[in-house]
Amino acid sequence: MAQLLITGGAGFIGSHTCLALLKEGHNLFALDNYCNSSPRSLERVSVLAGIDGRDRIKVVKGDIRNKDVLRKVFGGQDQPIDAVVHFAGLKAVGESFLYPLSYWDVNVNGTLCLLEVMKTYGCRTIVFSSSATVYGFPQKIPTSETSNVQPINPYGSTKAAVEQLLAHLADSEPGWRIACLRYFNPVGAHPSGSIGEAPIGIPNNLFPFVSQVAVGIRKELEIFGADWPTPDGTPVRDYIHVMDLAEGHCAALQALLREPPQLITTNLGSGQGYSVLQIVKSFEEATGRHIPYKITPRRQGDAAFSIADPTFAKNRLGWATKRTLLDMCRDSWVWQQLNPFGYGDQKDDDSN
Ligand code: NAD
Ligand code: WQD
Repeated sequence: MAQLLITGGAGFIGSHTCLALLKEGHNLFALDNYCNSSPRSLERVSVLAGIDGRDRIKVVKGDIRNKDVLRKVFGGQDQPIDAVVHFAGLKAVGESFLYPLSYWDVNVNGTLCLLEVMKTYGCRTIVFSSSATVYGFPQKIPTSETSNVQPINPYGSTKAAVEQLLAHLADSEPGWRIACLRYFNPVGAHPSGSIGEAPIGIPNNLFPFVSQVAVGIRKELEIFGADWPTPDGTPVRDYIHVMDLAEGHCAALQALLREPPQLITTNLGSGQGYSVLQIVKSFEEATGRHIPYKITPRRQGDAAFSIADPTFAKNRLGWATKRTLLDMCRDSWVWQQLNPFGYGDQKDDDSN
């Protein structure tokens, strides 16, 4: 059992991982400024954690760039913080072209602030949310960790920069235990439908958009191009159930805490690719709803394929995905039906 700081704990992946970590018996401090989430997600995590878990999570409202807040968390406990699971950050590729300063400030400067305070308090264990986006247009499919890191958008550059910073830190002094987890396409929700992905405004990503079409909030899906060099002409992605991803964090943390200090960089993906049209079909099967769509031009910056080589994660962490595409569609749908407007306290915009 460890004492953990979870930054960005109220977000999509953070909330599911908090629950998985509580189930493993850890004590958590979840820090979030709610710029892209709701405090209700963590209230629901407490309920899901049950009588054994709900008292082991403390929620702190704050920004990772505010070192005073971080100092209070690290310095204010009877027991030291053993490790950090660092989700906090901005994550929208399109937005990162418009606001590169914000992306570098939150993702890179925010991580710097966190690492400086960690170092001051002697906490040298961190699990970092990286992304398959660091591969840019991947050279080889499936993509292994040895592939070139060549981001093609400001968001990806911030993730690659933090990976580099963490590598320099690991080289600078002994004792750092660092895991950089390169997620592929996280989707789905906790099977209870109590917590899930709650995007603000029009979703950028396929799964939340399709869910909103199924529930009737959006009229139809726009498929960004059907002329890609893939079997059915639509792009292929490696979708990973968020509960599998949460368990991947538990596995990474366990490895860091039990083994000698080291830096682990690993993909978290299934190794299985599905096209946009396959997602639509599977969603229709899982929900019994028709998903209307139209084909529109390609979205700038998209690649035809993105699929993880999951071998290293399996060998190194003993972790592999367990849930199927149907699980991902069904759990997204349960969440969407129970929470058509997310947590109900986030601003929204007009439907398309
Ligand atoms: P999310 O937006 O749901 O969660 C991020 C959380 O961080 C939010 O709760 C947000 O309010 C919080 N946050 C942002 N800036 C903060 C700050 N300055 N101080 C404190 N809290 C702050 O996103 P997510 O999908 O859960 O992603 C979590 C992490 O995983 C991010 O770092 C993201 O870049 C990375 N990632 C996400 C995906 C994906 O497709 N969802 C894929 C690869 C990597
Ligand atoms: C999947 C496929 C779209 C929406 C993004 C980030 C990546 C990572 C994961 C953070 C693509 C198509 C989508 C729509 C569509 N995030 N699509 N109509 O782009 O693979 O990855 O999320 O690290 O960095 O780029 O995911 O869900 O946006 O798209 O046709 O309305 O669905 O073209 O082929 P993507 P996505």
